[in-house]
Amino acid sequence: MLRSHLCAELNEAHIGQEVRLCGWCNTYRDHGGVVFIDLRDKSGLIQLVCDPSSEAHALASSVRDEYVLRVKGKIRARGEGLENPKLATGKIEVVLDELVIENKSATPPIGIGDESVNEELRLKYRYLDLRSPRAYKIFEMRSRASLAIRNCLQKMGFLEVETPILTKATPEGARDYLVPSRVHEGEFFALPQSPQIFKQLLMMGGFDRYFQLAKCFRDEDLRADRQPEFTQIDIEMSFCDQEDVMEVGEKLISEVFEACGKSVQIPFMRMSYAQAMEEYGSDKPDLRFEMPLVEVADCFVDSNNEMFASIAKDSKLNRFKALKVEGGDAFFSRKTLGELEEFVRKFGAKGLAYIQIKEDEIKGPLYKFMSEESYQRLAQRLELKVGDIVFFGAGEKKIVWDYMGRLRLKIAQDMGMIDEHVLKFLWVVDFPMFERDEGRVKALHHPFTMPKDLNKDDVEEIESVAYDMVLNGVELGGGSIRIHKDEIQSRVFDLLGISKEEAQDKFGFLLEALSFGAPPHGGIAFGFDRIMMLLSGASSIRDVIAFPKTQKATCPLTDAPSSVSLEQLRELHIRLREKKGE
Ligand code: AMO
Repeated sequence: MLRSHLCAELNEAHIGQEVRLCGWCNTYRDHGGVVFIDLRDKSGLIQLVCDPSSEAHALASSVRDEYVLRVKGKIRARGEGLENPKLATGKIEVVLDELVIENKSATPPIGIGDESVNEELRLKYRYLDLRSPRAYKIFEMRSRASLAIRNCLQKMGFLEVETPILTKATPEGARDYLVPSRVHEGEFFALPQSPQIFKQLLMMGGFDRYFQLAKCFRDEDLRADRQPEFTQIDIEMSFCDQEDVMEVGEKLISEVFEACGKSVQIPFMRMSYAQAMEEYGSDKPDLRFEMPLVEVADCFVDSNNEMFASIAKDSKLNRFKALKVEGGDAFFSRKTLGELEEFVRKFGAKGLAYIQIKEDEIKGPLYKFMSEESYQRLAQRLELKVGDIVFFGAGEKKIVWDYMGRLRLKIAQDMGMIDEHVLKFLWVVDFPMFERDEGRVKALHHPFTMPKDLNKDDVEEIESVAYDMVLNGVELGGGSIRIHKDEIQSRVFDLLGISKEEAQDKFGFLLEALSFGAPPHGGIAFGFDRIMMLLSGASSIRDVIAFPKTQKATCPLTDAPSSVSLEQLRELHIRLREKKGE
């Protein structure tokens, strides 16, 4: 064995022992001829010391950052006043006896574990970035979590099955990544946005309970919690209802969190989609703090401002929401109020009205548009007190929900209302089946979701048996009970404006499978990377993926995507158009 211990395994109990260690030179110092090297491996750091009388001294003096070392030495206590409380091994050091330089290193372009370095550069040298013990801990936790997932689901009778990567477009609503076929000219595979169709087909194959840690690919706008290539914990089960799937989901999540050192209370609370939107302006509300939105349209129907009065009168189309920040008046200056207005404008607000409850007066642009009686009603409903400030959002309901929900979150963040140690799990249920997007009817979840009752005058009133699991304002997972009868599936396609020919062309095989005795079934998929991001406290999803893509969906390490030879393109029957500007 080249080594007897990992660096950070050593402590005062090892004093006097001879140890063999391997790792990288994290830092190198020379104090009056005595060489100090911090040796680093995946576990952490330990200090090596070599004084000029040692045979290893000449070689030790030639060591530089990131040299790969193999050492032998004796553990001793550090001298009085020389202990390093920041280091787990800070009370001891290794007196160098033998040293082998296994490899040299060019000067590293980034500091190992230095998070202030530009991210593009860190990703270009991701293998150096991964050398930090902090990065290792994240992946050690990820590995522990995937083991817990497999154990938990196998215990509950789920079978792990792999589904294809080269496949046909799946209907999750993002753009597909396409792969051209060489043998079939002009034809393409799509990479799966999820294993949705295959997992349903496995239920039709009688497998009863399936799961997979599945790679999914979506060509969509990236954010801090989105990657073009990510992993789902994908689950499907037969002969089940919504309660069964939710119970499996809660058990799984609590076991995974437990395995990663976080205890979780089940069952989770539930909230309807309608309540989430009305009170928190989001289908993934962060409930670590309260501060709900309150509907106050009735306080403005008699407003002397025509615009406000007319918004308040149409309660089907519009919303008039108040957001009270208790004792918040002193927190906001004229400047920060201006910044908040700029913030909501980005999400479609025309402005940001507010009122301030001062000791001797009520201030703010909206107050003068209210009758005294209406103001009293508002004050009573919101239980207003001196020192409060109330923000208002009025207009088309989806826009108001969105910007007021974001404002609620921003104020809580700015005012430090969020306890980072709290885990607030929540199920959001009773999602609408359809939504209108620029006049077109779209499936809110996906078109295989079971509707509750299709016979409604307005398609937007049709609910579905769909559910999302939310943690601290992040959507961890979502699923639904599926349609298992072809006549319901055909009606849903009709409502979505998908013609019989198009349905046949895209999902004919699924419709056919439904006609051969498909069992009732449903499932859920969790975003594994998102779960790991929340568990590890990482601020970006990229930290929990070994080789992630940048915000621009590129890989600076391998330089992908990249151009290919003309010959390869010819084989694939592809001719490129000239790039814009050429
Ligand atoms: P959905 O599209 O809601 O459902 O995805 C399930 C979960 O996957 C995660 N997720 C992502 N994570 C990282 N980057 C992305 N680009 C990304 N997109 C989604 C989220 C999300 O909650 N087939 C259905 C599930 C089902 O009905 O069973 C599906 O894919 O955490």
